[in-house]
Amino acid sequence: MDELRACLHAANQAYYQDDAPFLSDAEYDSFLRELGALEEQYPQWRSPDSPTQRVGATPISSFANTEYRIPMLSLDNVFDAGGFADWWTRLQKSLGEEQQIVLSAEPKFDGLSLNLRYEDGELVQAGTRGDGVHGEDVTHNVRTIRNLPLRLQGEGWPALLEVRGEAVIPTAAFARLNQEREEAGQAPFANPRNAAAGSLRQLDSRITARRPLAFFPWGWGEANQSLGNSHLGVLQRLHDWGFPLLTDLLRPVDSLQAAEEYQQEMAARREQLAFEIDGLVFKLDDLAARERLGFTARAPRWAIAYKFPAHEETTVLRDILASVGRTGVVTPVAVLEPVRVAGVVVSRASLHNLDEVRRKDIRIGDTVLIRRAGDVIPELVQVLVERRPAEAAEWQMPTQCPVCGSEVLRLGDEVAYRCTGGLFCPAQRVGALLHFVARKAMDIQGLGEKLAQQLVDSGLVQSVADLYRLDRETLTQMERMGRRSAENLLAQLVASKDTTMPRFLYALGIPQVGETTAKALAEHFVDLTALMAADEEALQQVPDVGPIVAQAVAHFFAQAHNQEVIRDLLAAAIHWPQPVPKKAGIWSGKQFVLTGTLQNWTRDEAKAEIEKRGGKVMSSVSKKTDYLLLGENPGSKLAQAEKLGIAVLDEEIFSGLLTRDG
Ligand code: IVH
Repeated sequence: MDELRACLHAANQAYYQDDAPFLSDAEYDSFLRELGALEEQYPQWRSPDSPTQRVGATPISSFANTEYRIPMLSLDNVFDAGGFADWWTRLQKSLGEEQQIVLSAEPKFDGLSLNLRYEDGELVQAGTRGDGVHGEDVTHNVRTIRNLPLRLQGEGWPALLEVRGEAVIPTAAFARLNQEREEAGQAPFANPRNAAAGSLRQLDSRITARRPLAFFPWGWGEANQSLGNSHLGVLQRLHDWGFPLLTDLLRPVDSLQAAEEYQQEMAARREQLAFEIDGLVFKLDDLAARERLGFTARAPRWAIAYKFPAHEETTVLRDILASVGRTGVVTPVAVLEPVRVAGVVVSRASLHNLDEVRRKDIRIGDTVLIRRAGDVIPELVQVLVERRPAEAAEWQMPTQCPVCGSEVLRLGDEVAYRCTGGLFCPAQRVGALLHFVARKAMDIQGLGEKLAQQLVDSGLVQSVADLYRLDRETLTQMERMGRRSAENLLAQLVASKDTTMPRFLYALGIPQVGETTAKALAEHFVDLTALMAADEEALQQVPDVGPIVAQAVAHFFAQAHNQEVIRDLLAAAIHWPQPVPKKAGIWSGKQFVLTGTLQNWTRDEAKAEIEKRGGKVMSSVSKKTDYLLLGENPGSKLAQAEKLGIAVLDEEIFSGLLTRDG
């Protein structure tokens, strides 16, 4: 039992303090259950500070009140180096010019403050700050927090001790918690602080027990004996008695410059910390000197909060725009009354899709909470429904593309709505162009993103067919385009005209049509005109083409502008070989898997040789695999193939077979 308790205790420490868990949740739970069963069986060896004491107890019906003889005060704030220097000067003046200032520099945890009362070493009461003098009794919930002692450890602790600090939910655990909530259909928490507060205000502590709360001490209240003469010294003693100590984040600073350095270091580390902080706190370390300075009505004179720019702000949602991306997806974008969030002015935020707009019940005119944390991208967290004006309006997805006027459709059960304009839609042109020239499409090298953008912006290329009208003169006028590169590109364009039907179909960028579907369509219809004329029913005859793909294909070919682009491309002399009637190849019906690097073929070339002979190339080895084609430095597929007794062809045998087959 001791061993289990020690292990679970160390696991808590690793999880909450070091952010380096060594037990999975399932392992933790199973150890906890094992310990619980033993404690049930051998009550004489129970321990009051056992991790089993933290699983929650019978729900209470309401919160009792707490009262603090030493009030839980607030802190004064500064927001920049100037404000901080002023405070330092004032502090130096009140202490007397000859007194050496030493401050304890600490993170300002963005959580919920708690007062933990220990009598004879036992945690007897835990309360929230409330108005500073009266708080709420949340002892039943605080007992479930895994990284605080239910009974003080070590020795030398006062018989009466109030420890003060912050309850937080670490960032990674918060993300997991919200993901679980969304999967369960519950509303996610807006931020870790709300999650921590919500978790501590549960009447049923079994719910709190499942929330990943952690506690970090930053001070103390009542104590019936002196705790020493240094603040950092007290934090160290609290650590000896069982509380976490963030050694890496705390330090003494003895000059304005050292304090500023600490501020800069922490500002840079802010996003990487295991939990959210909203600033720093600097406190005079000398406890006797604190006594002399005392308090204002609200806050101590010996401490200051140096705040970071806030991660969250509220602002007004002026409008919602439908933005058409390169692939035709129509995304709702929030147009915001510009607001500064964590140091950057935010005026737009993606709302992702219509489902999201409905789920968050976002209406034009709403006051909304904007958050910009860790990942820099601003996010609309939630609507403040209580501030919704009467005329706030629901937003509708446009039925026509705001850029090109084509129909906007939601295909099958896709979340996204798409503009069906394809190549015809200016918003999609650069994307369509890059897709058209891609290696697996028309394979035109020398046309990158920058050039594609220039060609579209200058109006030279409105449809992909315009590519084939470019000449050397026009091309050399583009930025960073010399004569040599222009000529290379023109040669590539000419060469690309000799293509295959699957490549051509894939290059058109028909929604839902990838490489494999393009190949299936070409094989089934053989003739382009027949494919273009096929209705959805006929399209569904193609292997692996379901109703959604059929709808997308039929819709694409029905658009007059798509027909026009295809006509233009064929007029530019794009062509492909007509298929020779398939003779049964040497590998018909055989399945290949490739591994490692071949010396004389690229993977695509080898694949083409195999397919020409009726074989198929699969991505992973299975019982159905006939041959493994082996290159240099093979992966784990070789071992798998050997285990399954699959024939392995090395490159030499493979090329021999090809030569014999002609
Ligand atoms: S010291 C007499 N230190 O910030 C008040 N507070 O804005 C002493 N907080 O109520 C407070 N981290 O809830 C202190 N390292 C830290 C803190 C911290 C977070 C919270 C605390 C306090 C509030 C004041």
